[in-house]
Amino acid sequence: MKVGITGAAGLIGQRLAAGLRGKYELTLFDLKEEARGDGVSIMSADVSDREALAGRFEGLDAIIHLAAIHRSNPSFADVVRSNIVGTYNLIEEARRAKVRRIVFASTNHTQNARAASPLMDMSATSQAFVDTGKTIKPTDPPAPDSYYGVSKLCCEDLGRYYAEFLRCIEFVALRIGWSAPGNPNDAPLTKIMRSPDVERHYRALFLSERDTVHLFDRALQAKLTFLVCHATSANPQPVFDLTDTIDKLGFSPQDNSDKYFDDAQSNPVGAS
Ligand SMILES: NC(=O)c1ccc[n+]([C@@H]2O[C@H](COP(=O)([O-])OP(=O)(O)OC[C@H]3O[C@@H](n4cnc5c(N)ncnc54)[C@H](O)[C@@H]3O)[C@@H](O)[C@H]2O)c1
Repeated sequence: MKVGITGAAGLIGQRLAAGLRGKYELTLFDLKEEARGDGVSIMSADVSDREALAGRFEGLDAIIHLAAIHRSNPSFADVVRSNIVGTYNLIEEARRAKVRRIVFASTNHTQNARAASPLMDMSATSQAFVDTGKTIKPTDPPAPDSYYGVSKLCCEDLGRYYAEFLRCIEFVALRIGWSAPGNPNDAPLTKIMRSPDVERHYRALFLSERDTVHLFDRALQAKLTFLVCHATSANPQPVFDLTDTIDKLGFSPQDNSDKYFDDAQSNPVGAS
């Protein structure tokens, strides 16, 4: 199976390029062309530039679409251009090239304000929400906490339109929590553990490197037309419900945040 990955030079892109290489024939894309060691090269493809995408996806069976702007609370204009227009361009070019499936990197920020009301904390991982004992299902109403979250919701619905109404492409959106570095000592630990609220948040959202690769693999393989589902490891205090991820994708998480954080706490070298 021939699989393209956009945003391949980024954090998750590098993980997937390494983890899926043995199983799929990969073509890697990012903003800039780049030759890496051991024969790995990245081709330039700015997804916000429709013309620059022309012909780039020819011969691919699937695309993992990671390219997006998400760090540092991006502006509305930036997420419209890179995320919404970028995803529209990508789907249109994929459809033209007869790519069968798109696996889309969505985010918990589409629902992270689920527990929000004028009287409550703004985060779904707030203690107030955790104390309710509820979990959030992907089918619960959207609750974006940022323009970024809004942009990913819009991209999910673009996918829904092409998959369920136009029926010309399959689309799987993974609402990723926090794709953590394989080695806890590479995680920004002092930032994460600076308060019980922030630590609880990351513990609930944790998705291990191994589970990240396995989940994208399942999203490439599972037989379905359209799905939006959550993407975390099997964390002890879950906030985002994994039922669809397990039942419909066949996701079988191997890790959970307890061990990761225990290891990190016992050896916080590299914290920054
Ligand atoms: N890292 C996480 O824990 C996390 C959590 C939730 C969702 N996500 C989503 O997963 C995806 C990957 O996240 P990441 O952490 O690897 O991000 P990253 O910022 O490390 O990498 C994103 C890559 O996309 C590229 N890119 C940005 N705009 C582009 C454009 N217009 N055309 C082509 N390439 C472009 C960047 O150059 C970068 O290499 C993103 O869509 C992000 O929203 C990540």
